[in-house]
Amino acid sequence: MEAPPAAVEGSLRTPPEEGSAAFRALLSRDEPVLALAPMQDVTDLPFWGVLARHGGPDVYWTEYFRVHSTSTLDAPIVRSLVENPTGRPAIAQLIGNDPVALAKAARQLQEYPVAAVDLNLGCPAPVVYRKCAGGGLLREPQRIDAILGALRQAVTRVPFTVKTRVGFSDDGDWDALLALFARHRIDLLTVHGRTVTDMYRSEVRCDWIARAVRAMPCPVLANGNVHSPPRAAQVLRDTGARGLMIGRGCIRNPWIFDQIRDYRRTGGWRQPTGHEVLDYITHLYEVTRPTAGFRERLQVEKMKKYMNFIGEGVSPEFLHRIRRATTREEFFGCCREFLDHDGPMPLLPPALPAHDSTSRASCPSQ
Ligand SMILES: Cc1cc2nc3c(=O)[nH]c(=O)nc-3n(C[C@H](O)[C@H](O)[C@H](O)COP(=O)(O)O)c2cc1C
Repeated sequence: MEAPPAAVEGSLRTPPEEGSAAFRALLSRDEPVLALAPMQDVTDLPFWGVLARHGGPDVYWTEYFRVHSTSTLDAPIVRSLVENPTGRPAIAQLIGNDPVALAKAARQLQEYPVAAVDLNLGCPAPVVYRKCAGGGLLREPQRIDAILGALRQAVTRVPFTVKTRVGFSDDGDWDALLALFARHRIDLLTVHGRTVTDMYRSEVRCDWIARAVRAMPCPVLANGNVHSPPRAAQVLRDTGARGLMIGRGCIRNPWIFDQIRDYRRTGGWRQPTGHEVLDYITHLYEVTRPTAGFRERLQVEKMKKYMNFIGEGVSPEFLHRIRRATTREEFFGCCREFLDHDGPMPLLPPALPAHDSTSRASCPSQ
């Protein structure tokens, strides 16, 4: 076996079969699977803990492991897998374009409690796609073919999954890509219903996701702009997907997974109060403090990466003010001003009506 990263060597390592059995069980239930989207610099161990406290998804994705010919597994991400506090399965995501290196990383990861190994074919950051990784690979189907072949051979103990956008700049190759995924017998496909060049701007196309559901022999998760229980129900209906993967919506609203479950059971859901949102932000501030070298100014800056999403769900003025805070006092003073109340908080993205029955986004039936 290849050596584990030094920082986690000697830590308790559980074989992955348990997590993958839990994941397979999720896929065979009647209920839709609710997954946390991988988000670099966000979906780390502390954030997983925060989500779990608010109900949490059925399955957690890690941030991506960056893989190249000389890389080793990123120790903090491995630690998320080893110390996973959620009691739910966790899936490790890889990004890279070297089939040999990716296969090696996948074999190493299967020595840890991973429920599946996932390949990133969607990252739209120019710094990534210009190196022909993430979404950049969607321009090179032959390279994808080689990578899928290598990973399919290497991932033997747990499911092998792929998260993708539908193409680089249009959906012209989407059917061919789906055929490639099917040929390599992947176990689950997550589709973000946009192209790489769409970034996050355009509408999410449920019809593109539905095409994947029809074409693939494996389950498909729908991803993109799921921010409320009615929207979740609509995406499931319009795509026929086996479940949903949610990213920014759960930074803005960590209750969203339980809200979706409640909505399915009862037709209603509870909105958190201002005080509960304030508690969430306070908790996030505390659990994301570094264990060494804490500096208040840096921690306030770090909070802004979450606040960019949470703030959108509060008000434009709140977000504007929070972006200017530099001290803990300024930061929480602003939070108290807007959130020290027991009124309901819809926590929706901007420009959506507060009652958000379906949202203005995207599906053809709207
Ligand atoms: C801050 C941030 C980091 C992200 N990092 C990753 C990543 O590491 N791997 C990945 O496949 N997608 C990543 N994504 C994309 C999300 O997983 C997801 O596909 C996208 O945000 C659309 O879903 P949403 O509308 O529910 O947020 C990231 C998105 C954001 C906002």
